[in-house]
Amino acid sequence: MFKKLLCVFFGMGLAFSASAADVIADMHAEMSGCETCHADGAPSEDGAHEAAQCADCHGGLADMEAPHPAHDGMLECTDCHMVHEQEVGQHPACDACHDDGRTAN
Ligand code: HEC
Ligand code: HEC
Ligand code: HEC
Ligand code: HEC
Repeated sequence: MFKKLLCVFFGMGLAFSASAADVIADMHAEMSGCETCHADGAPSEDGAHEAAQCADCHGGLADMEAPHPAHDGMLECTDCHMVHEQEVGQHPACDACHDDGRTAN
């Protein structure tokens, strides 16, 4: 899975440096277009193809830093990361689902 990510890093050069105000999906589309996540550029009905793409580059929830492992087996990446709505650097809020005032850090 890291092979694909490394190819992206070496292939992209400075492309990420200018993407601070980009929507997360647009920043990803700079890698391989809409096909970075979608088969044939269009969303799948069940989201399975997109979820597999996330995992292929980033790994699974269990392998990531907090708050990710606590949600392994319960959530998909896109339950928290609205990739077409949130901007790069904008982190998901806990209170969308937890009402006890917890935060990411
Ligand atoms: C980072 C991965 C990623 C990239 C790159 C990406 N998408 Fe998506 N897209 C998703 C995911 C995940 C969903 C389903 C959940 C959502 O809407 O956020 C989605 C949903 C959509 C939808 C349905 C939206 C809706 O409101 O029903 C369309 C249309 C779409 N994408 C088009 C595109 C196009 C066109 C591109 C290229 C310009 C693109 N996407 C690039 C991940 C991505
Ligand atoms: C429970 C909600 C949640 C889920 C599910 C989730 N994330 Fe996150 N993610 C976050 C939060 C919150 C942060 C910011 C953490 C912090 O403050 O350091 C984050 C950070 C990240 C970052 C680093 C962003 C940065 O600026 O450092 C990446 C990459 C990421 N997530 C990818 C994923 C992927 C891929 C998945 C699915 C395998 C996923 N996330 C699932 C909430 C979630
Ligand atoms: C082709 C490889 C690839 C795919 C597929 C991919 N990502 Fe990424 N993603 C990256 C790279 C590279 C970065 C920038 C470096 C980093 O933050 O890890 C990134 C960054 C992110 C970030 C951090 C954005 C920020 O605020 O800094 C999130 C969140 C994220 N990806 C979620 C997802 C989700 C959700 C999916 C699936 C819908 C996905 N990624 C699919 C390679 C990928
Ligand atoms: C999309 C909904 C969603 C979001 C957003 C979300 N969580 Fe969760 N989280 C869940 C679900 C569902 C569970 C499993 C059921 C439970 O224990 O409440 C869970 C469980 C947890 C657990 C393990 C059980 C517990 O309650 O201690 C931790 C820790 C946790 N989440 C932390 C966070 C943090 C920190 C954030 C914000 C960065 C966050 N979550 C955002 C849905 C979410």
